[in-house]
Amino acid sequence: MWETYYTPATLDEALSLLAEHREVARIIAGGTDIIIELERGLRPDVRVLIDVTRIPGLDEIELWGDGLIHIGPLVTHNQVVASQLLGERALPLVQASWSESSPQVRNRATVAGNIITASPANDAITPLRALGTCVTLRSSAAERTIPLVDFFTGVRKTVMQPDEMLTDISFRPLDANQRGIFLKHGLRRAQAIAVVNVSAVLWFEGDVVIEAFITQGSVAPTIIGSPEAERWLLGKTLTSETIDKAAKLATQAAIPIDDVRGSAEYRREMVRVLTKRALSTLRDGTEREDHPAGPVMLWGKHAGRVHQRLSQGFRHGENEPIELTVNGQKHVVSGANHKTLLRMIREDIGLTGTKEGCAEGECGACTVFMDGMAVMACMIAAPRAHQTEVITVEGLAKNGKLHPIQQAFIDEGAVQCGYCTPGFLMAGAKLLEERPSPSRWEIEQSITGNLCRCTGYYKIVSAFEQAAKLLEKERK
Ligand SMILES: Cc1cc2nc3c(=O)[nH]c(=O)nc-3n(C[C@H](O)[C@H](O)[C@H](O)COP(=O)(O)OP(=O)(O)OC[C@H]3O[C@@H](n4cnc5c(N)ncnc54)[C@H](O)[C@@H]3O)c2cc1C
Ligand code: FES
Ligand code: FES
Repeated sequence: MWETYYTPATLDEALSLLAEHREVARIIAGGTDIIIELERGLRPDVRVLIDVTRIPGLDEIELWGDGLIHIGPLVTHNQVVASQLLGERALPLVQASWSESSPQVRNRATVAGNIITASPANDAITPLRALGTCVTLRSSAAERTIPLVDFFTGVRKTVMQPDEMLTDISFRPLDANQRGIFLKHGLRRAQAIAVVNVSAVLWFEGDVVIEAFITQGSVAPTIIGSPEAERWLLGKTLTSETIDKAAKLATQAAIPIDDVRGSAEYRREMVRVLTKRALSTLRDGTEREDHPAGPVMLWGKHAGRVHQRLSQGFRHGENEPIELTVNGQKHVVSGANHKTLLRMIREDIGLTGTKEGCAEGECGACTVFMDGMAVMACMIAAPRAHQTEVITVEGLAKNGKLHPIQQAFIDEGAVQCGYCTPGFLMAGAKLLEERPSPSRWEIEQSITGNLCRCTGYYKIVSAFEQAAKLLEKERK
């Protein structure tokens, strides 16, 4: 794991730290990729983490005077999903961010982090490439803006230098004559890495296609275009025959491998299927139909923003204590600087209600609230919690009275072996804070990040419904 964890208060400070530590340092944003990479020993040289998530002004999504949409490096997938501007003018990116993991992970995971991890299966890259995106890389000495298509050099490899930080993501918003879509095929409906993903952005003059961008993920070392299919579509209307041919041509670009998620042959066939589906949907103008209005965020009242800004940066090396408030009580913890927030809560603060199921962000058993947002504590470095307020499952009951979601779990018999229960309770409490009367669909969305190995979801969903009723009674 890391030796020193810096939390700079300004961008200049972050860039100076990168310049100073270079190859042994990495930026950490949401941490949902880098923490796992460090845990698995995939980055043995990295000893310094530079946490940029408390630098103000880096989480904006704006249309600038240059006519481009600019996305800051701290914009999370949930912020993308909630953005009206992106919903109207960059639907494929919103669809990709919505397909990413679970609400707790999306509350932390950034689009910038997705780009820089540079996995061929990463979802945001596919629509961003189809939208003609550029990224801006800044060091303390220089700044450069390069097309995304030139950014990737191989599996998890980019042209970014050790002293550079990605500071901006920009692309032209879609106009009335341009339409786009992102589609993903995973092995389950939520929390799934793409077996294949496809994005298509088409420019029309009347019914005729005048520009076409079709990108594919998880079928080559980097996200790729589909030049043969794109060329074929130019000057054509989207008839069934044109679409069938384009979908077949798209498979010519794919050079997939066999792996645990699918064979190369299956992936190539899915490129055809998804491309056909994408083009047919764009022809019919139904690309918005499956996209949810009012998606569940589990971010409380903060709209996903880090509301607490720093007057000065922090350094957590061997000895500096982590000061935080947990369930309303102040704690000063020493010796936890190299742990995750989950381990610090359990081992140093002694609150063992928060469970470790997978330690990889997959199961939700470690869900806590940090500064009001539901997050996976196993994906957060403990020093990130310095000067934050954390609520664990032990903090849900107030004045000896159980939270309605806790009471409902007992009433409905929703606790089985009980291991996953704290995580479900936290997801449920945050959902009820956001939506006091959630629909069945909203309940299901709120627990996409929570797995129950005893698999009794019916009673859990009933308990969520019952909790809403209890809450309503309390309010009357
Ligand atoms: C359970 C789970 C499910 C997931 N599901 C999906 C999925 O469905 N689809 C998908 O695409 N991904 C998925 N991911 C991967 C991950 O969540 C995303 O790639 C995410 O967008 C990474 O963002 P982050 O802010 O957490 O990155 P971090 O982990 O903070 O950083 C990732 C990399 O980017 C670098 N970095 C981050 N920001 C900057 C910057 N501004 N400048 C320079 N370097 C920077 C870091 O040094 C690191 O190398 C999943 C992860 C988990 C744990
Ligand atoms: S998601 Fe954190 S332990 Fe499983
Ligand atoms: S109740 Fe046993 S894992 Fe969910």
